[in-house]
Amino acid sequence: MTAVLGTDPGSIQRAADCLRAGGLVAFPTETVYGLGAHALDGTAVRRLFAAKGRPPHDPLIVHVSSLEQAAVLTTGMPADATALAGEFWPGPLTIVLKRHESVPREVTAGLDTVAVRVPAHPVARALIEATAFPVAAPSANLFSRPSPTTAAHVLHDLDGRIDMIIDGGPTPVGVESTVVDLTSTPPRVLRPGGVPIERLRALLPRLEITATPLAADQAAPSPGLLSQHYSPRTPMALYSGGAASAQAALFKRIQDATANGLRVGVLATREQADALGPVTALLIDVGSEQAPDAVARRLYAAIRELDNANLDLILTQQMAGTDGLWRAIADRLSRAATEHVVVPDR
Ligand code: TXA
Ligand code: MG
Repeated sequence: MTAVLGTDPGSIQRAADCLRAGGLVAFPTETVYGLGAHALDGTAVRRLFAAKGRPPHDPLIVHVSSLEQAAVLTTGMPADATALAGEFWPGPLTIVLKRHESVPREVTAGLDTVAVRVPAHPVARALIEATAFPVAAPSANLFSRPSPTTAAHVLHDLDGRIDMIIDGGPTPVGVESTVVDLTSTPPRVLRPGGVPIERLRALLPRLEITATPLAADQAAPSPGLLSQHYSPRTPMALYSGGAASAQAALFKRIQDATANGLRVGVLATREQADALGPVTALLIDVGSEQAPDAVARRLYAAIRELDNANLDLILTQQMAGTDGLWRAIADRLSRAATEHVVVPDR
């Protein structure tokens, strides 16, 4: 039921026609696959929420092809926005601005702000240019599941629920865009992502960071910032604290769990895997701590692979650094985990 298209001009045109008619099309961006709908068509946007099983109070990012196309979606483009756009668009940065009344309420979940981004992926750009209207697109996964970084991930979640998917291969960044709110004073990062916060701070020194994950009962400044998100169906425990003590506790958990007949999976960096040594678990190595970009690219695929391996428990340990892309990686691990084990340094 869901047509799988290539990236040739004829396919892009077919996808654009489908969006114009109110259909739903998944497409690659540089971060993750998005599920697109005509952003100015409230009915299409409601279909999109239904296809994902997304609650209507979680607003969507509107994808456009230029700063000029973004400007008509807002009542005011502050100088900070123009500066950020000049440096990071096209790219994995989403900017929250005051909403223009032409943006349907369905898109912004009733908020008076709108999130916009100019993606860099050539297929996303070609599609948006072919439509000539803005395209609302959340990640193309079922609500609260890990984001899709391949067309196969999208089909796993949404086959039969959407009209088309453009298969443009694996997405190069692997984690979602950084979301910056310029409607608050000072400006705030609502979600760490593909553009490191350090690079944003070079332009916006007053930029604040909303601590994540939020407790489940805490009011969310961004409705999508639920603490439980991006999760596999398999229970996943995240070990943090002192690196060596967390590793020892994780090792003991593998032994205890397997002794109790449980099937265990481990998600680790190459360095963590080496330190752990041989284990009676399905271990997926997401790459070296020397290369956070490669870890980010593989993260969601690794979580999905473990989730599809019929395990009882997935164990992982907080990874390497806290700056650059590691901040986004740590944030996604933290939200994917259903259990948090903090092991103090000995
Ligand atoms: O990289 C990405 O951003 C991907 C690709 C497809 O572009 N999209 C994506 O969309 O991750 P989604 O819907 O999965 O996440 C959008 C995030 C959510 O946390 C949502 O709450 C937040 O952006 N958001 C959207 N509109 C907002 C607004 N007006 N104010 C605050 N947060 C907003
Ligand atoms: Mg999402």
